[in-house]
Amino acid sequence: MSGPSDLSEEQERHLVQVARDARLRAHAPYSHFAVGAALMDEQGRVHAGANIENAAYPQGLCAEAAALAHLVVAGGRRVTAAVVVGEGREAVTPCGGCRQKLREFAGDELPVIVADGREVRLRTTLGALLPHSFGPDHLGAGRRP
Ligand code: THU
Repeated sequence: MSGPSDLSEEQERHLVQVARDARLRAHAPYSHFAVGAALMDEQGRVHAGANIENAAYPQGLCAEAAALAHLVVAGGRRVTAAVVVGEGREAVTPCGGCRQKLREFAGDELPVIVADGREVRLRTTLGALLPHSFGPDHLGAGRRP
């Protein structure tokens, strides 16, 4: 299992750069709030995503969800590190829905790094962002015979 200490400085730097580059390709004409994400999978591969908004507002997609789609279609099965990049006074942490989406492919130990164009603003874990979470493991044991 990956923990925060398993991510090297070089890997973090690379993930942050990929997320910054992805952010530049965001489609955010409604909120004008561009977000980029980069996810590492269990094979060490990196998958990028950006938010993709829609004229029918609720249909918009978060950067993390876009990156997860890339990871899954590339054959990834686990997320081992997540980086989100956005600008603003507050660090752009993953929204509640995206925390749950990440939980499908990672556990409490998942390192989540939040950065902007200049620096890393926050290093945390999925467990800290989504404590006592519900995940795939709950379903197996709780199913009716
Ligand atoms: N957004 C993300 O892409 N990820 C997050 O975790 C926070 C919010 C996007 C959704 C929307 O396109 C814009 O930021 C403003 O909420």
